[in-house]
Amino acid sequence: MFQQVIHETPKGTIYIEGPCPGSYLADLTMNSKLTNFRPPEKQKKALIAITGMPHGMIYIARHEKEIVGYITFHRPDESSRWIKHPRVLELGGIEISSDWRRCKIAENILKAGFSNPVMEDYIVITMEMCWHWDTRNTKLDIWAYQKVLCNLFGSVGMKRTATDDPDILEHPANVLMARIGQNVAVSDVALFESMRFQNRYGNAVNLL
Ligand SMILES: CC(C)(COP(=O)(O)OP(=O)(O)OC[C@H]1O[C@@H](n2cnc3c(N)ncnc32)[C@H](O)[C@@H]1OP(=O)(O)O)[C@@H](O)C(=O)NCCC(=O)NCCS
Repeated sequence: MFQQVIHETPKGTIYIEGPCPGSYLADLTMNSKLTNFRPPEKQKKALIAITGMPHGMIYIARHEKEIVGYITFHRPDESSRWIKHPRVLELGGIEISSDWRRCKIAENILKAGFSNPVMEDYIVITMEMCWHWDTRNTKLDIWAYQKVLCNLFGSVGMKRTATDDPDILEHPANVLMARIGQNVAVSDVALFESMRFQNRYGNAVNLL
């Protein structure tokens, strides 16, 4: 069920595509400004690796033969508490090249990813950690950046979710967001709820 959506921008035509097979990504180049998480070639390898993981999915924004943005979905990291939940999928990263920002590409790539019916079978989480935010290029401070991200992820139904996950508590600007798919069983929702706070005094902190 590979999907393609054409998105016209003032800078040119963008194809929003996914879930992309690794072999398809291998034939494309990476925009040289996709450097937010790691250098572009390393990031390309990471994207291809995700396509080979169980439940791994990559959606891209492509201009001609170049990847200009992407989002990743995969199971949570082995070291994270969320891996113990069988129906949690993590939106691990979203990045749009600084050459192509403010063209609604992030909004549309998220829309494409979440229109995949499989999302209704999962609780999709995203751990927004401020040390990954590109405050330099966007010229936003962390609080304005947090607001932009909450609105962006909110556009596909993700909601701020209180937790005592140590990665989130590490900085007050960090945020956990979650979206519960329509087909997720009540028992799986209850399990997720029970996992949000695991520390003894957890309920006293990060209440939203
Ligand atoms: C955050 C990011 C993904 C946004 O991508 P984008 O394609 O520029 O976002 P969109 O064009 O879809 O923006 C949608 C809305 O978000 C808001 N927004 C996005 N970037 C903004 C900025 N720099 N300043 C103010 N508002 C902004 C705006 O309301 C925008 O709508 P508008 O342009 O009509 O005002 C991009 O800046 C990026 O890749 N940053 C680095 C990686 C990152 O921080 N990822 C998130 C953590 S994993």
